[in-house]
Amino acid sequence: MDGNGRWAKAKGLPRSVGHKAGVTALRDTVMHCVKKEIATLTVYAFSRENWQRPSTEVDFLLGLFLTALDEEVDRLDDNNVHLGFIGDTAAFPDKLQQSIAAAENKTKNNDGLHLVVAVNYGGRWEISRICRELAEEVHTGGLQPDAITEMLIDSRIKNRFTRAPDLFIRTGGEQRISNFLLWQLAYSELYFTDLFWPDFNEQALDKALAWYAGRNRRFGRLCKQG
Ligand code: FPP
Repeated sequence: MDGNGRWAKAKGLPRSVGHKAGVTALRDTVMHCVKKEIATLTVYAFSRENWQRPSTEVDFLLGLFLTALDEEVDRLDDNNVHLGFIGDTAAFPDKLQQSIAAAENKTKNNDGLHLVVAVNYGGRWEISRICRELAEEVHTGGLQPDAITEMLIDSRIKNRFTRAPDLFIRTGGEQRISNFLLWQLAYSELYFTDLFWPDFNEQALDKALAWYAGRNRRFGRLCKQG
């Protein structure tokens, strides 16, 4: 969800207004995904690198997450959305951690859209965490090194719903992955749009989905092999 700051700057507004508009765009996108019966939507809300922003912006963002979570959880629940978080949430203020846990708990039995919010997340962090976990198991004798396979690592990715996204969308004009779901994106289709995140809407998502529908996914095989 890139481009909140530039969206605000272009309008002569503070960056915080851009982030607030980003919440509205996220709400609309989530509801559109519900309508389209999309199985999983994973959004990158806060990277491990985002701590390096000025503390005023970091504090604003953490406050915004808390407000948005508290304001949106009932609507998400009413729409059968199952909310989950990936990333190191232990670094967040207690109040935010409690709201995250409460929202996950409240929506855990919903079987509609699985909305995964990546916060204090990084793809390299996630892979390193799994390496450490596996090394500890080898060290204590519970795991043989030759049992470390792609399938095992895949099964250790914390949230099984984020394992292999079909489509990756980056807004804001940059064409890079920026440490998002590095393992999981191996065969995803990558879509980039110049739209700033607050301008992303139903039509923009439909356009990305139409582009995706026209892709020929081969997963390393020839197309005739299906
Ligand atoms: C990137 O834009 C956006 C963020 C770092 C924050 C994303 C947060 C939201 C969209 C708010 C909603 C999220 C939740 C979970 C309620 P940027 O600040 O890097 O923009 P710039 O590249 O134009 O400066």
